[in-house]
Amino acid sequence: MGQDERVLASSFGAAATAYAEHRPDYAPDAVRWALAAAPGPRVLDLGAGTGKLSGTLAALGADVVAVEPDPAMLAELRRALPSVRALAGSAEAIPLPDAYVDAVLAGNAMHWFDMAVAGPEIARVLAPGGILAGLWNVLDDRVGWIAGLERVSGGEAIGPRDTFRSWRAATASLHLPRAGGAARFGSPEQAEFAHGQLRTAESLVATLGTRAGMLTMPGEAREAALGRIRAFLAQTPETADGEFALPMLTGVLRVRQR
Ligand SMILES: C[S@@+](CC[C@H](N)C(=O)[O-])C[C@H]1O[C@@H](n2cnc3c(N)ncnc32)[C@H](O)[C@@H]1O
Repeated sequence: MGQDERVLASSFGAAATAYAEHRPDYAPDAVRWALAAAPGPRVLDLGAGTGKLSGTLAALGADVVAVEPDPAMLAELRRALPSVRALAGSAEAIPLPDAYVDAVLAGNAMHWFDMAVAGPEIARVLAPGGILAGLWNVLDDRVGWIAGLERVSGGEAIGPRDTFRSWRAATASLHLPRAGGAARFGSPEQAEFAHGQLRTAESLVATLGTRAGMLTMPGEAREAALGRIRAFLAQTPETADGEFALPMLTGVLRVRQR
C-alpha cells in the first residue's frame, strides 16, 4: 500500500462520532447471503469501525468478534455495542487463534487490506469450509438523481467503489486470488441487495462528509465539494424538502475456504 492509500485507510478515526451517526448499516438479506452455509455461528467483523456491521450481525444471532485498528473507531464501537467482543488489530495481524471463526466479514473495509498479507492471515483464523465476504454499501446510480449527485461530487467525494456501476469491477480488482490463490479459496461469487437510508439533504451532506476521499481533502476543496452537493440537493425535487430514502445497494463478494 502506498503512502496515499495509508492516509486514506487511517482517515476515519478523526470522524468516529459523525461516522457512527451518519453511515448506514447493512441490508440484513445481504448479511444472511454472505453467511449462508458458514460451518458455524462465530463471525469475525474485520475492520469493524464503529460497529455498523457488527450490530447487524448481532441482531441476526451471530456470535460476533470485532477487530479494528483505529483507537477512536474502536472506542465508539465499544460504547455502542458493549456486549460485542472488540479487539485492537488489523487484517494483516488478526489477534485470534487458528481456525477460530466460521466466517470473516468486512463492511466497506476490504479494499483497505493488503490482501497479499491479509489473505493468508484470514485463511489462518478461518475454520475449514469458512466464508470470507466483503460487503459494500453503494449508491444506486441507476437512479437519475444519484447519477447527478455523483457528477457534482467529483471523483474524490464519491469514489469508484461507492456507486453501483463500478463496484463489481472495483471489487473484482481486489484480486481475491492474491489472498492465497485457487488453492486456498473457491471461486468468488457476487450479489447485490436493495438497501436504503432515511436522510434529509443536511444529513446526506454529513454522510458524504465521512467518506475517506472527503476526510482527506484540503479544507477549502472539501467545503467547495460539500457546497456543490448542498446546492444540488436543494434544487433536486426528490431531496429538496424533508426526508427521503437514499437509494442504495449492499453488494457482497463471497468466497469459501477449501
Ligand atoms: C469505511 S470504514 C468501515 C467500518 C465498518 N466496517 C462499517 O461498515 O461501518 C473502514 C474501516 O476499515 C479500517 N481499516 C483500514 N485499514 C485496515 C486494515 N488494514 N485492517 C483492518 N481494518 C482496516 C478503518 O480503520 C475503518 O474503521
